[in-house]
Amino acid sequence: MKAADIVMQSYGRCCASDGFFDSFYDHFLASSPEIRDKFANTNMAGQKLLLRQGILNVVLHARGMPDTKLKALGCSHSRKGMNIRPELYTLWFNALAATIREHDKQSTTEIIQAWREVVSKSVEVIIAEY
Ligand code: HEM
Repeated sequence: MKAADIVMQSYGRCCASDGFFDSFYDHFLASSPEIRDKFANTNMAGQKLLLRQGILNVVLHARGMPDTKLKALGCSHSRKGMNIRPELYTLWFNALAATIREHDKQSTTEIIQAWREVVSKSVEVIIAEY
């Protein structure tokens, strides 16, 4: 199976697992004070809904969706926007991988590797706008 299809199915299981987005932000915020600062004034309930769609865009991009939405995300996360340093995407992926391991009951190293491949393609587009 292609990485994009493996990830689509894994994401389905993650979204069906209670607390997936809560766990993601628990891991992500715990990973660095710089991340906590960025979200200091954020309504996290709203942010979790936005991330649900954000990850879907990452998955759909790997399945051939044009990169318009990811470029817009790159723009909001750029120097001129929220100034999210490119290095922080490694922490983002690590938090995501830890969360998938907890919530996708079928998770394997192959599945995490497929996620890594899919996410890095989108992160390239996002960081290009930095
Ligand atoms: C906002 C997705 C990486 C910090 C958002 C939004 C989405 C999103 C969909 C809301 C729409 C927008 O503002 O454009 C993603 C995805 C990422 C990613 C898919 C990785 C591929 C990061 C990283 C950080 C970050 C690494 C580092 C701290 C933020 C902040 C906001 C935001 C601070 C705004 C929160 C607010 O409104 O107060 N992100 N993001 N994001 N993201 Fe990201």
